[in-house]
Amino acid sequence: MKRLASQVALFVEALLVGASLTGAPTAGASLAGQAAAGTPAATAPARTASWHLSDQCPASFEKRESRCWLRSAYQQYASLTGAGVGGLKTGLPPIRDGFTPRQIDLGRYLFFDPALSANGRLACASCHIPDRGFSDHRTHSIGIAGREVRRNAPSLWNVGFLRRFFWDGRAHSLEEQAQGPLYNALEMGNRPESMLRTLNGLPAYRELFAQAFPASAGSRGAISAPQVYGALAAFESSLISLNSRYDLYAQGVADALTANELEGFNVFRSFVARCAECHTPPLFTNQQIAVIGMPEARGHAFDPGAGDAPDAPLLRGGFKVPSLRNASFTAPYGHSGQFGTLRETVAFYTKGRGHAVPPGEHLQLHWHIWEPKLSDHELDRLVDFLGALSDESFLPATPDVLPSGLPLPAELKRDGEHS
Ligand code: HEC
Ligand code: HEC
Repeated sequence: MKRLASQVALFVEALLVGASLTGAPTAGASLAGQAAAGTPAATAPARTASWHLSDQCPASFEKRESRCWLRSAYQQYASLTGAGVGGLKTGLPPIRDGFTPRQIDLGRYLFFDPALSANGRLACASCHIPDRGFSDHRTHSIGIAGREVRRNAPSLWNVGFLRRFFWDGRAHSLEEQAQGPLYNALEMGNRPESMLRTLNGLPAYRELFAQAFPASAGSRGAISAPQVYGALAAFESSLISLNSRYDLYAQGVADALTANELEGFNVFRSFVARCAECHTPPLFTNQQIAVIGMPEARGHAFDPGAGDAPDAPLLRGGFKVPSLRNASFTAPYGHSGQFGTLRETVAFYTKGRGHAVPPGEHLQLHWHIWEPKLSDHELDRLVDFLGALSDESFLPATPDVLPSGLPLPAELKRDGEHS
């Protein structure tokens, strides 16, 4: 184990150019002197003078011309096109990089701050809990009204690489996506005007936005909605997880995977199981919408997914192929949180094509959904392999104190354990 740890360290070093290897990417150092640390919860906003944003790019990013650009060993490989699937040395899709360190750090505060919700109780991080792979532990998340939202909260690791967002792929940028939860009555329940009124009324945020978007600061410009979405997108794009033991293996460290994990990987990319056709390395998603016929969680009505759009009847029951990175931390699984464990999830694929499609639904199931007749042994090995996709080494720091002065959402009380 020790030897592996030092290999990981070496690998990470080789992988990162110019990024700080120690500590969390946007470590609390950005809060100068932590002057506000003793502030009791839910009192007046922290004093303006004590708020400063980090000038360092998060780990994995190199600073050039004041902006942060991803550096990854995968960038030496060509794109997937023509390289087949399941290949180890295939490139990554383009990422949303080029944000400034301050924009990323501002996004981090906004992400954790319940001030963005209508009642000041719910933050993005309430449902995208860092310790849970940026998802929550519920089948369906709970919004400000205490009611279930429509679907399961997906992980946010590596979202900067994605081309479409939500389970049905209906948003096409992180900025567009953020407006969903912010203004949905079931989620954060806010309205643009009241969100901006709140933020503009907080001197700490006035100061932080001026630091992150200096062009508008000269005129003492008010905080704008696109700045809020942009900062959130900057932070989300910094959530990089590409240093798992699988990645070590892919880069040539032959003994980085155990025998069981390797066996699982070979099942995963075989043309019998066909997992890699959709969960394509290195992101473990091909970013397509696929109709695979996964059931709903108990008591939930059939969800047409991407087939909700009037021009997409063939996509009825279609959902975005999720990345499987850090899946060990994001139970329950599927758009409806229908499976409690990874073992139950992978078993779905071998129970027969269309076995869970409700009577009366005629779904156009994807041709790679077949009858692989995987044995219990093979299913166990698949789960072993998925465990090798875990990497939280660049987990960002949770702020100790929020610019709004509000307490952190209760879900973020650290228990130090995944469970
Ligand atoms: C009430 C819980 C909740 C809150 C609060 C919330 N989300 Fe989500 N988030 C979800 C759920 C559920 C989905 C999936 C919804 C769907 O697909 O229809 C989702 C989807 C996403 C996605 C799409 C990921 C992907 O792979 O497609 C992103 C990005 C995201 N949320 C970011 C945010 C940000 C940023 C905020 C704060 C502005 C936020 N979320 C607040 C529950 C929440
Ligand atoms: C035809 C494309 C396709 C193939 C082949 C495929 N999957 Fe999936 N996978 C999906 C889609 C789409 C979802 C989301 C479905 C839903 O929620 O209804 C999914 C969901 C999952 C999830 C849940 C992830 C999460 O975060 O909720 C796991 C785990 C998974 N697949 C593993 C596998 C394994 C292992 C195989 C091979 C045995 C496989 N998949 C084959 C498309 C595919």
